[in-house]
Amino acid sequence: MGRIADDKIEEIRDRSDIVEVVSSYLPLKRSGSNHQGLCPFHQEKSPSFNVNSARQIFHCFGCGVGGNVFSFLMRMEGLSFPDAVRQLGEKVGIEVEEEAVSPTEVLRREERERLLRINEVAGAFYHQVLLEDDSGVSGRRYLRQRGYEGETVRAFQLGFAPEDRGVLEKHLAEKKFSSDAVGKSGLVRPGKQGRSHYELFRNRLLFPIHDLQGRIVAFGGRVLDDSLPKYINSPETVVYHKGQTLYGLYQARDAIRHNGEALVVEGYFDVLALHRAGFSAAVATCGTALTADHARLLKRYADKVLLIFDEDAAGRKATFRAMDALLPVGLAVNVVAMPAGEDPDSLLKAEGEVGFRSCLDAARPVLEVFIEDQLRINDQSVEGRARSAEQILERIRRLPGDLERSLYLQRLADLTSLDLGLLKSKVSGGSIAQPRMRRSAEQSPPLRRLSTETGQTQKYLLRLMLMDDQQRHRVREEGTGGLFVDELFRGLADYLLGCEDEDGRLPDVLVDASLDESQQSLLASLVFLESQGWADNPEKIFTDCRRAASNYLLKQRLKEVGRLEEEAQRNNDEAALMQFLRERMEINQELKKKL
Ligand code: UTP
Ligand code: MN
Repeated sequence: MGRIADDKIEEIRDRSDIVEVVSSYLPLKRSGSNHQGLCPFHQEKSPSFNVNSARQIFHCFGCGVGGNVFSFLMRMEGLSFPDAVRQLGEKVGIEVEEEAVSPTEVLRREERERLLRINEVAGAFYHQVLLEDDSGVSGRRYLRQRGYEGETVRAFQLGFAPEDRGVLEKHLAEKKFSSDAVGKSGLVRPGKQGRSHYELFRNRLLFPIHDLQGRIVAFGGRVLDDSLPKYINSPETVVYHKGQTLYGLYQARDAIRHNGEALVVEGYFDVLALHRAGFSAAVATCGTALTADHARLLKRYADKVLLIFDEDAAGRKATFRAMDALLPVGLAVNVVAMPAGEDPDSLLKAEGEVGFRSCLDAARPVLEVFIEDQLRINDQSVEGRARSAEQILERIRRLPGDLERSLYLQRLADLTSLDLGLLKSKVSGGSIAQPRMRRSAEQSPPLRRLSTETGQTQKYLLRLMLMDDQQRHRVREEGTGGLFVDELFRGLADYLLGCEDEDGRLPDVLVDASLDESQQSLLASLVFLESQGWADNPEKIFTDCRRAASNYLLKQRLKEVGRLEEEAQRNNDEAALMQFLRERMEINQELKKKL
């Protein structure tokens, strides 16, 4: 992959001004040394979105996001990092030529471009057929029957593939696309044994699937009657991966960002129906289960996802699979129940916006639904209840908030009559026999698990490192390991030390691309942390951090010792047992002394 050279990235960052860039999206007002405005990433009434021009950084106190000008564009426009760099580069007149792009990479890109062009031309062709061509009559009639006209058809660029063979092939050939290239798009396929080629879509209503830049990457096509298969979809290509694509996200993005809520439904028509009824935050998976990639995609725009799947066994399974993908990235997930046999499209038709709204209002947290479901499918025997509890605990553990976790534990204890203390220890200890689910990198569990006081102290120390060269040098001497318990904080401290120039000073602009999202947000929040009061006593901050770090290590060791004791007991190893008992006492004394 061609990488953009670091100095090029810096040049572009230096040449641009974050205040100016942000101002082109939202009004900012100067406030002291910062600029403030209403956060574009969550809904708010009073401004908690801050931009600091000296450090070229933004941070929102409301939703916690932050970073530099590139992260702002990535979030705002749904761009990848290289695309954000390129786009900003264009604005400030710096062309991004890339380091060492291999010949295969060049070919790959050309192929991508070509496929996108073919889809674009095909999409325009099918759209025009649906809108006005004679061969599109049946498609128009079908859509009108289902109540779709004008605006929705255009917003989603719906199309119709005519019955007649060869029309698309001919059209694409006229536009000088080679049959080889067209073949790669999947739209026209080679016939077997010298027979003529055939088109993937014939006599079908077409739903173009867009990427976040509004380019068509694939199509889904529905028959106009009851024949099977009901839908055919484009194959996966270099521009289309269904596990990473959400139908309608391009059209729904702004609405999702506005309320921080996304509706996830099953079908193309459900997205259309919702959009038409004014629920424009709706997206659908493209005939697959919801993946972790989908979840991350949604997380860019939403805090909360409402799942609206069929009320049948398959729908329930899909709901819980989606839950397992969504909860780990920190999204709140609710389930919207439809009357049996209905989907959003049919429900809106039968009961209108009001009927649908009342379903939305009755949405319940997914975990609540999951708990009920588990208790129902597993019997009430001891094993049955244990099995349910294990399944449920596994999910509770993945909830991002302490409060929520504790509420659900209480609920679980009530429902299973298992001991709350035991359940709690299982959730924090992780001693569940089941394999643990993969953790998403975007989560920051240690941060949340730290007592807030310890977290706060570490934050102060990091802030000291930012504003006081001497204190930072002291951190370097003592070593970050003995001061920072939390990986996220320690990583950032190490990063700051690495940023120092030869004179031991920090550059003004700090956030760079090597930091991940949570590090960027943390660093940005530090820049805006008020320094009144606490900063007067650096000594205390150091002492507190040291103590927190050593307490943490001692407690870790205590757990370890507990395990070793049990082992020694099982092996009847008296000598070892005595030794561990002594160590435990010593650690306990040490911990007490430090209180
Ligand atoms: P549904 O069968 O629920 O269809 O499939 P629908 O979207 O409600 O369409 P209408 O209202 O009957 O016209 C839900 C989704 O599953 C995928 C499609 O993405 C569809 O929108 N699907 C379904 C396929 O990919 N292939 C199929 O054969 C059927
Ligand atoms: Mn339907």
